[in-house]
Amino acid sequence: MNPFEPINSRHPVLWHGGDYNPEQWPATVWTEDMELMDLARYQVATIGVFSWVSLEPEEGVYTFDWLDQIMDMLHESGKFAVLATPSAAPPAWMSKKYPEILKTGPDRVRRLHGNRVNYDWSSPIYRQKVQEMAEVLAKRYGSHPALLMWHVSNEYGGASYSEYSRLGFIEWLKAKYEYSLDRLNAAYWTRFWGHCFTDWDQIELPGQPYGETAIHGLTLDWHRFHTDEIVSFFLHESQPFRTLTPNIPITTNLMGLYGGLDARKIAPHVDVVAWDSYPQFSQEPMNERSWAKVAFTHDLYRNLKGGKPFLLMECTPSSSNWYPTMSLKPPGMHRLEGIQAVAHGSDSVMYFQWRQSRGSQEKFHGAVVNHGRTDNSRVFREVAQVGYDLEQLSGVVGGVTRAEVGLIYDWETDWALNAACGPIQRDKGYFDTCLSYYMPLWDHGVSVDVVSSEADFSGYRLVIAPMLYLLKPGVADSLKRFVDGGGTLLATYMTGYTDENDLIFEEGYLGPLQELFGITVEEIDARFPSEKAEIVVGDSFLGFDGVFQAHTFCERVQSTTAEVVAQYSEVWYSGEPAITINRIGEGKAIYLASRNDAEFTESLMWALISRLDLNSVVPFQLPDGVTATKRTSGAGEFVFVMNMTQQTHWVPMPQEYTEVLTGQSVQDTLELGPYGVAVLKQA
Ligand code: GLA
Repeated sequence: MNPFEPINSRHPVLWHGGDYNPEQWPATVWTEDMELMDLARYQVATIGVFSWVSLEPEEGVYTFDWLDQIMDMLHESGKFAVLATPSAAPPAWMSKKYPEILKTGPDRVRRLHGNRVNYDWSSPIYRQKVQEMAEVLAKRYGSHPALLMWHVSNEYGGASYSEYSRLGFIEWLKAKYEYSLDRLNAAYWTRFWGHCFTDWDQIELPGQPYGETAIHGLTLDWHRFHTDEIVSFFLHESQPFRTLTPNIPITTNLMGLYGGLDARKIAPHVDVVAWDSYPQFSQEPMNERSWAKVAFTHDLYRNLKGGKPFLLMECTPSSSNWYPTMSLKPPGMHRLEGIQAVAHGSDSVMYFQWRQSRGSQEKFHGAVVNHGRTDNSRVFREVAQVGYDLEQLSGVVGGVTRAEVGLIYDWETDWALNAACGPIQRDKGYFDTCLSYYMPLWDHGVSVDVVSSEADFSGYRLVIAPMLYLLKPGVADSLKRFVDGGGTLLATYMTGYTDENDLIFEEGYLGPLQELFGITVEEIDARFPSEKAEIVVGDSFLGFDGVFQAHTFCERVQSTTAEVVAQYSEVWYSGEPAITINRIGEGKAIYLASRNDAEFTESLMWALISRLDLNSVVPFQLPDGVTATKRTSGAGEFVFVMNMTQQTHWVPMPQEYTEVLTGQSVQDTLELGPYGVAVLKQA
């Protein structure tokens, strides 16, 4: 039996398709589209994402003919529809008639009509309009045989600083602080700089360029409110689907690690999690770190709903026009990106978009059918190849990943670290730190669940808590239970500094975790890039020793019960603890007081992999730049081996496998060309 059901039993395979905007083209092109989609094995079309004006050109006047035709054409040609609500693009007539629906920027100026997601989350009229539209769509298409899923809106994000929003925030605060300004002032420590509120109406929305930035609890609550406002907008928008079409799954496509929304808060309300992946070619071409970042995000999205497969709702088949440098994906890279998503838990590979637009903002954005309107292009052929691959992999549907390692990534810690003035006035590197512990595991084929600090840790052998600065209630206790139960916990500097109000714990840094780690943290030294600091590691538990560079953050720590396994040198606090281990029964709580060089992190993670005997998903050594994951479904175990480099690698095989994409037997050696992938099953 499969661990999870297919998303919709109407199409119980890995979905291949993506955004399709037929309303930009004359109907003659639609017939061509259906034929080309067959050639590209593009089975699932996401339609209607920005179509409001094409569906309702005047208030209350609906024009569904084109969508009726498209739905029927998809069905008649054996394809399916993911039907979107068009709320990401309110029509111009609506903005003109009800200007209050428009977003107000952080400068407190209401925006003019244009662009997209340019609406106010709290506008009652906009909420009413989006619900009406969803109801009309549900009634008209809810029982259409092509319909697979509702795609509610598009990439929710971007706060509005309107008066509606301010009043909503104040009501939210009243509910949270039980109508007590004393409680709110205490939680915000507002006696500092005399920032006490004496009337609810004095509260303004915080943030640059004109708003309050000094009350960090207020900033944190604003982020929380904004997330709750998006969730309530989503619930409002999707309510007609829940009522009228209870058997059609619902999703909304999210933006990876986007900081404006705690994705974990919306996940319980969707039937399947979906995200849009556009790894950036920023300063340089894709490298190992960029691939790891995508893998990390997949591992996070897979865990938003307890390991349930998610959807890769968008990616580009070639390049994205908003990259600083719009370089093309070299041959094979797109296939690798698609298979990588499936390898980490996606049940789809979907694109933005089917056909390249001739005009407007995204006319240079990659698409399956490019400006030449032909199937005879490199990109088209590569997409068709992915379609073929996904068909070979249909046994993977519903399959799960089993991980012995949980790595904590929390949006609230990210918000609190960004708000904090100090210890450095630049990016504190929260995500980079998380990734630095993730990468060595990923390199060695050790599966990782990227989880919330409030997750159930009982199934893991190693939990990593990098820079877990803000401790939500209950987290210290559950980490203690994990270590008491024999688990190994690895935490770093800047863990447990503040409580849920972003107030430093009364007992000092590490707060309720001091006993677990057997240390106290006295102070933190931020280092200039030019300053040298070292840590000298003895080999007592970790099994490796040496001298490594420490930089950026060095805490001064005292041990109460922990063993000191590394000490600082080349600083005025030389000889003081830099790494400690507190043993509790079989469990261990390891604390890294400084940010250290990559060589140290790799040595440490390798030591943990071997000491804890963490299983790689493959019984063989992976060359540098080749990674592996495993998904297990009712159809068996699928091992994905992926070459993230432009070099060919030959991987020695200890046993015979069947390679699922080609159906061929693999013995002795697996050859992986540039960006090559293989999916192995035991022969
Ligand atoms: C986002 C949007 C799409 C499209 C792509 C382009 O993911 O959802 O509509 O604009 O970006 O990369």
